[in-house]
Amino acid sequence: MAAEPVNLNEFQELARLALPKMYYDFYAGGAEDEHTLKENVEAFHRITFRPRILVDVSRIDLSTTILDYKISAPIIIAPTALHKLANPEGEVATARAAASCNTIMVLSFTSSCSIEEVAASCNAVRFYQLYVFKKRDIAATLVQRAERNGFKALVLTADTPRLGRREADIKNKMITPQLKNLEGLLSTKVSSDTGSNLEAYAKETMDASLSWKDLEWLRSITKLPILIKGILTREDAIKAVEVGVAGIIVSNHGARQLDYSPATISALEEVVHAVKGRVPILMDGGVRRGTDVFKALALGAQAVLIGRPVVYGLAAKGEYGVRRVIEMLKDEFELTMALTGCPSVKHITRNHVRTEHERIHSML
Ligand SMILES: Cc1cc2nc3c(=O)[nH]c(=O)nc-3n(C[C@H](O)[C@H](O)[C@H](O)COP(=O)(O)O)c2cc1C
Repeated sequence: MAAEPVNLNEFQELARLALPKMYYDFYAGGAEDEHTLKENVEAFHRITFRPRILVDVSRIDLSTTILDYKISAPIIIAPTALHKLANPEGEVATARAAASCNTIMVLSFTSSCSIEEVAASCNAVRFYQLYVFKKRDIAATLVQRAERNGFKALVLTADTPRLGRREADIKNKMITPQLKNLEGLLSTKVSSDTGSNLEAYAKETMDASLSWKDLEWLRSITKLPILIKGILTREDAIKAVEVGVAGIIVSNHGARQLDYSPATISALEEVVHAVKGRVPILMDGGVRRGTDVFKALALGAQAVLIGRPVVYGLAAKGEYGVRRVIEMLKDEFELTMALTGCPSVKHITRNHVRTEHERIHSML
């Protein structure tokens, strides 16, 4: 039996041992030089704390509310593709773990399990992540199915007009399994001699013409609140607010799209300042420690999403592994709150952290 991990990073090695190389590489990899992949994690390391002492932290309340849903901690499950490659139960196991941790799961458009299977598996609060294909009626059908099956919000991933160049997948000739949600709507069978099948499939299907004006179309086909995922600049944050989104997710797609995009934790404050509290801001990318969750909240995020650690937990230990990943992150976050003098998430402020920029500025 594999050793019990003591932190999220240790799940990665367990996942590597558990998975065929093609699948592990698919989950772990980033775009091109993987510069942003490393930066997503390392930029957190350059932020330090300004902890406060002698605050009563005998009781810590981690809970928060996202779009009116109270969750046990500001830690949400990011949409990641193809969970059955990690575990035969796929997204059903992930959703059950989300339910038992009382948090939100964002189901990927490219999930292995269907919308209906995930909905029937448990009572987790679920959001549905959407890609828009050239065949727009596919998006409309899936959105209606998500709505009918009790999903509470849509997450439009907007940083994927084309698929980023993931070289491990190209080398491994990563195959796209048939997606259950698309059965009867679209075949995932493509073959490419030059790249990964995934890349070829995305090129064939993704609607690269999707633009801001299409938010109106999306709003016309659903009553669900829409969050937009993939914002990294103040310009796009302002546009998102103007078109009436219910929330913003600062994300670089786990560094799988445009290499040399900024680490998301470095881009967060720019977006926060532009939005001025008009809509909630979430972030993802490189969150591996409770201290990272705290740093994101101190810089203005309402919650973080975690991607790879969830899949690693699932690959290593199934539903239990996902639960452990979330619980560990929550425990570390709670400890960070105690040691910085914050009895609740409302007590976390900008003054509790010092960014690299501030450190350099203070030396001038
Ligand atoms: C294997 C994998 C698959 C992903 N699939 C999707 C997806 O289907 N839709 C989406 O919006 N984002 C997808 N993402 C991006 C995640 O939602 C999230 O932005 C990212 O994983 C966060 O970074 P982290 O992995 O460092 O936590 C995927 C990421 C990974 C690692």
